[in-house]
Amino acid sequence: MIALKLDDIDVRFGGLQVLTMCRLSVEEGEKRAIIGPNGAGKTTLFNVISGMIRPTSGRVLFFGKDITKTPSHLRASLGLARTFQITNLFGSLSVTENLLLGLQALKTTKYVFFKTMSSFPEMISNALTLLAAWGLEDKKDYPVRSLSHGEQRQLEIILALSTKPKILLLDEPTQGLSTAETALVVPMVRSLDSSTTVLFIEHDMDVAFQMADRISVLCYGNVLAEGREEEIRGNRRVAEVYLGLGDRHA
Ligand SMILES: Nc1ncnc2c1ncn2[C@@H]1O[C@H](COP(=O)(O)OP(=O)(O)OP(=O)(O)O)[C@@H](O)[C@H]1O
Ligand SMILES: [Mg+2]
Repeated sequence: MIALKLDDIDVRFGGLQVLTMCRLSVEEGEKRAIIGPNGAGKTTLFNVISGMIRPTSGRVLFFGKDITKTPSHLRASLGLARTFQITNLFGSLSVTENLLLGLQALKTTKYVFFKTMSSFPEMISNALTLLAAWGLEDKKDYPVRSLSHGEQRQLEIILALSTKPKILLLDEPTQGLSTAETALVVPMVRSLDSSTTVLFIEHDMDVAFQMADRISVLCYGNVLAEGREEEIRGNRRVAEVYLGLGDRHA
């Protein structure tokens, strides 16, 4: 089953063409990395998938359902969750307060967000289970700013996962993390079973290969290459355009 399909997505901001006839197809349960140079359009692609921006043309299909015109809060209720490139936690509040606030915000401002009111306590209990599973239970009452950057990223992922999304979008979950902190996030993504399809943007190719089943390389708003690690590592165009090796090998 195809979890997510993008059909010929175009995004233009005034005179700037950011995505051009962009196509993407992700199987249910897949862990897909989106890599590519700065400004390639990766975050824009996530904004199109989550409904934060409407494409100039093209279609977004969520498990076969056309959601191109569906507002983002309704996409969330279908089972689409995301984290942001820039952290959106409250540093002075505790881990638990952040979870409550994050989930409460989803529940109240997005009034049709969840199918039943009872899903709120269920999300809290999911979040607490995830906190324990990832060794953050002891830090429940600590202010978020006292956590390492890696732990903060884990917390953001926990918040997104507690809604039990079918598709999870992670925009650079390891950005700014040390190697040791990255090692906290990688197994979290890897441990998700096939009920969660994950798309994540990643700058570090090695990390992308560790977390992903398949990789899509975005360049100038278009998918330049797609495949498993060997195919991407062996792809000459990727080496030239993405790694900037064109001159050296010319
Ligand atoms: N709302 C917007 N209005 C105008 N231009 C935008 C908007 N959002 C993004 N852009 C432009 O679109 C291009 C792609 O931006 P985007 O953030 O999608 O790139 P990215 O691949 O995520 O880059 P990075 O690796 O730096 O995060 C950039 O040139 C950016 O300045
Ligand atoms: Mg980005």
